[in-house]
Amino acid sequence: MSQFTYRDNLLYAEEVSCSKLADAYGTPCYVYSKAAIQHSYQAYASALQHWPTRICYAVKANSNLAILSLLAQLGAGFDVVSGGELERVIRAGGDAGKVVFSGVAKRADEIRRALLAGIYCFNIESREELERVESIAKEMGIPARVSLRVNPDVNPSTHPYISTGLKENKFGVEIDQAWELYQRIAQSRDLHAAGIDCHIGSQLLDLAPFQACFEKLFELVDRLHGCGIALQHVDVGGGLGIAYTHRESAPGPQEFAKVLAPFMQDRQLELIVEPGRALVGAAGLLLCRVEYLKHTAQKNFALVDAAMNDLLRPSLYSAWHGISAVYKEAGDEMLYDVVGPVCESSDWLGSQRSLCIKQGSLLAIHDVGAYGFVMASNYNSRMRPAEILVDGDQAWLVRKRESIEQLFADEIIPG
Ligand code: LLP
Repeated sequence: MSQFTYRDNLLYAEEVSCSKLADAYGTPCYVYSKAAIQHSYQAYASALQHWPTRICYAVKANSNLAILSLLAQLGAGFDVVSGGELERVIRAGGDAGKVVFSGVAKRADEIRRALLAGIYCFNIESREELERVESIAKEMGIPARVSLRVNPDVNPSTHPYISTGLKENKFGVEIDQAWELYQRIAQSRDLHAAGIDCHIGSQLLDLAPFQACFEKLFELVDRLHGCGIALQHVDVGGGLGIAYTHRESAPGPQEFAKVLAPFMQDRQLELIVEPGRALVGAAGLLLCRVEYLKHTAQKNFALVDAAMNDLLRPSLYSAWHGISAVYKEAGDEMLYDVVGPVCESSDWLGSQRSLCIKQGSLLAIHDVGAYGFVMASNYNSRMRPAEILVDGDQAWLVRKRESIEQLFADEIIPG
């Protein structure tokens, strides 16, 4: 059930009208629903309750401290991919002991900090990285729990930019190499083989690639078990998609659990999942205002005050996001390309959208809770937008709009 609904033709986020939010905080701004995040977290937790499970939220999807704090309160662990993300988790009150550290090129200082913080596990992506973690663990006298990220060579059938489980991708180690590296870990005094992991891609709408991946992953788990290497957990990554259009349908955590069940059954393993988009994607809107309507011989353009720097997904992946008028006026709709002020033709948010709008109308861009603000930049010296968290009839400003001062506060003119 969506937490963004129309009442008397006006869009609400939970109990708060989106036009009031735009008036109070200005546009463009991201608006998140607390109830939507709670709901999707609980749906995941209940679908996986048959097994000892840790949900490690993928921080990269939305790393605002308020969102991390909310997920920490719900009991989540975290999947981080940088020292910065780890610091965010700690600052938000998350438990470092529930953190898995993913990412292909962890720096020595990041590894040191993670060991000191006492993270649960490093998801290792190469022999070279394993060697680095081992030598730092030895030097610090803190043994490191590790998991090898296996690259199962499975096609996730998603956008090529977000496919990660094919052998031509930079991610993970091949199954045969993983086997070899586990023997090596077993010999080390500074490493402990805590688990195994994989993540084959993002925005998967079909469960078959997960099935293919689990077959390879669990076969390796059994082989390792057979030679005395008993892993504590299996981390199956994130990747479950959401339906961005009415034509799409996304499998929910229950269906995902059904695919997992035969693999988890009769194996004494803990389960880790790393969902990002499925927890927060549908929980966010981007509100923006129409600055001008421009009609050319070819097209009608709605020029809005949000742009590719605020929401990159359409420009980068040709991603489709629903766009609706915050106030639904009576009148004829027209087809518009919804575009921003950035000086590139790739700066578009939606093309050929049927809308009844005028100059000054507010628009809502839907399903931007994941990979929205986190991918925003200052391109064209635009200030990044404000972020607001709605809880019932309350709205909290959880990140102020950037100011002109912040824009160049760290720049230095020499001399
Ligand atoms: N675990 C690992 C190791 C990952 O690399 C990712 C996402 C996740 C978990 C979470 O995946 P999710 O459940 O959100 O699909 N910017 C792109 C998505 C990039 C995803 C990168 N890795 C987008 O806007 O679609």
